[in-house]
Amino acid sequence: MQAVANKAQEHMGLHPTTVSSGYKAREGGETMKALAWFGAGDVRVIDAPIPDIVDPNDVILKVTGTTICGSDLHLFHGEIMALQKGDILGHEFMGVVDRVGPSVKNVKVGQRVVSSFQIACGSCHFCKEGMSSMCDNTNNSSLQNYMYGTRDAGFFGYSHFTGGFAGGQAEYVRVPVADYNLLPIPDEVTDEQALYLSDVLPTSYHNVVDTGVNEGDVVGIWGMGPIGQCAAKWAKLKGAKRVIVIDKYPNRLDFAREQSGAETINFSEVKDVAKRIHELVPGGLDVALDCGTFHEPKTLLHKIQKGLMLETDVPETVNEMILAVRKRGRCGLVAVYAGFTNGFNIGALMEKGIRFIGNGQAPTKKYWDEILYDYIIPGKLDPTFMISHRVPLEDMAKLYAAFDQRQSGVEKVFVETKFSNPPSPGCPKTTRVDDWEKT
Ligand SMILES: NC(=O)c1ccc[n+]([C@@H]2O[C@H](COP(=O)([O-])OP(=O)(O)OC[C@H]3O[C@@H](n4cnc5c(N)ncnc54)[C@H](O)[C@@H]3O)[C@@H](O)[C@H]2O)c1
Ligand SMILES: [Zn+2]
Ligand SMILES: [Zn+2]
Repeated sequence: MQAVANKAQEHMGLHPTTVSSGYKAREGGETMKALAWFGAGDVRVIDAPIPDIVDPNDVILKVTGTTICGSDLHLFHGEIMALQKGDILGHEFMGVVDRVGPSVKNVKVGQRVVSSFQIACGSCHFCKEGMSSMCDNTNNSSLQNYMYGTRDAGFFGYSHFTGGFAGGQAEYVRVPVADYNLLPIPDEVTDEQALYLSDVLPTSYHNVVDTGVNEGDVVGIWGMGPIGQCAAKWAKLKGAKRVIVIDKYPNRLDFAREQSGAETINFSEVKDVAKRIHELVPGGLDVALDCGTFHEPKTLLHKIQKGLMLETDVPETVNEMILAVRKRGRCGLVAVYAGFTNGFNIGALMEKGIRFIGNGQAPTKKYWDEILYDYIIPGKLDPTFMISHRVPLEDMAKLYAAFDQRQSGVEKVFVETKFSNPPSPGCPKTTRVDDWEKT
């Protein structure tokens, strides 16, 4: 798939952008540790050149915290198009400003900041509304333009389908349009509280807010990784009366019960999830949220179709959601999908009058001030609840495999570099992936 996608992209030529994804090595040939993609199931920690300023509005960050996301697993499995060998991955990171370009006004060398996972221009009409993930000017993928009719913003470390920008699972990273794409962190907020403003917190918040969770709603959430765990918290904070969560990992279900008072359905035990939901909630859910993953087919039918490349994505979660909601219910998709799926229940969607909402990639810019100042600082939501492990960047390749297998009860991980502060009180201490339990 990668070879075909890269060939097609080469044939079409790059779409014009106002922000370059160029990578300039710093003078002197110094290198850094970074995680790079080499093939499906093959990521490695390599020595890469330390990046330098390319455009005048760039910043170079010394990374003090990074992590792994369910979205990285789609790259790990080679399910996202136009990956190239040697691409540096990672789209959630924070750091300390190391170098600033001459046009940067809002951040200074030495400042502590968190980066958005998307690279936005700050001046197109989407950016002016804070819809940074929809920026028109930063993704040069004509392949995405061909497949979707338009393009997302460029993303850090997320293939050439989203612009080919180097990512932040590294000791240093280049952040273009730094005034717009970096958020300064107040001193009273710890690194562990700040890091997840990069992605998980705005993404889960967007899923809940954009789909519309109202006071008294009954909400179902598919997928209890970090995104689903946070969505359950946000749903409760927005007034949901009941939250019902679906996954197959007992520890993830137990965690949602403890943390958010959720009711749970284990789909490895309950074959007909929608039927169970109608037993629990006669008439159906008000809201269904998809925080799962498109690359794990449940049924033999879709294992075969996906294996034969007759579809790129599986429809099982969305079909359950459509069946499980009430008439006129709302379904919101923040889980990533990439292409095409077979057997989508379009009839039920139409006949039930369902509001089916693709939430898109989450616009971090729209939400991160609100999350930081209205929820984290007043203590209404402490993001550290989801951190299960802390590991050094040297273990990043091993972490991909362990996170993919959901080993050792992993939820969200804090990945430290040589520039990190020590763990904050109450947060996990550093462990090595080799020492994790294998189950
Ligand atoms: N839209 C965005 O901006 C954005 C940003 C970040 C992550 N995401 C996406 O959000 C999703 C969740 O991310 P995460 O980090 O929590 O991932 P994760 O891989 O840790 O968790 C996914 C969970 O979904 C569960 N799951 C798989 N199939 C299921 C099914 N049929 N029914 C119920 N549960 C099922 C898995 O068991 C797993 O626990 C991923 O698809 C990720 O790509 C989207
Ligand atoms: Zn992510
Ligand atoms: Zn823009």
